[in-house]
Amino acid sequence: MKYKGIIFDLDGVICSTDHYHYLAWKALADELGVYFDETINNRLRGVSRMASLEIVLENYSGQMSPEEKTAAAEKKNAIYRQLLGQMSPADLSDEVKQTLDQLRAKGLLLAIGSSSKNAKYILERIGLGDYFDRISDGTNITRSKPDPEVFLKAAEFLALPPDDCLVVEDAKAGIEAASAAGMDSAAIGDAVSCGLATYNLTRFNDLLNCVD
Ligand code: BG6
Ligand code: MG
Repeated sequence: MKYKGIIFDLDGVICSTDHYHYLAWKALADELGVYFDETINNRLRGVSRMASLEIVLENYSGQMSPEEKTAAAEKKNAIYRQLLGQMSPADLSDEVKQTLDQLRAKGLLLAIGSSSKNAKYILERIGLGDYFDRISDGTNITRSKPDPEVFLKAAEFLALPPDDCLVVEDAKAGIEAASAAGMDSAAIGDAVSCGLATYNLTRFNDLLNCVD
């Protein structure tokens, strides 16, 4: 086996939360009178909440104090959390669940490496609350992807050296973070086009071909 552990990004890899992020940022942007669309939303992939807010505010003509920015991010998150309440185990595809089970059956340790502070809540909603061996998320890091911190922490939590871990990511920032951590990476979705990953996946279960 080439790896001992696999570290999965959550949003866009295990499940899709893009549309909920979009709706929540759009509600905030509308309130502020700021232009916001799906193209801008795509730039927020893998980016922390506060860094996302800065991108949303690129089109804002006014000034915001740090306190107002914190309040705006909290408002977006409240809307987002309410939308996440609609998620259920039906939002976890059979392909993803079966692939995870097959990877585990091969003896691999499975972890989450997500920038989100809502990662544990999302995992609970989709029925994976107790599934992963370790979770490294937005609550245990100070620097967001492309910084390698979230993946280095995940490896540390798994008690594995970085080069025994493979990262699975849908964001360019996440592929860069894996590379900075000294880890191989598998790109899926949007991240494939950056051309920086060790493997490019057409579908989630292609992952089974990367680990032997
Ligand atoms: C990442 C998402 O997983 O988490 C980003 O791809 C998001 O779009 C980031 O901004 C932070 O999420 P949260 O849930 O902490 O606001
Ligand atoms: Mg992602």
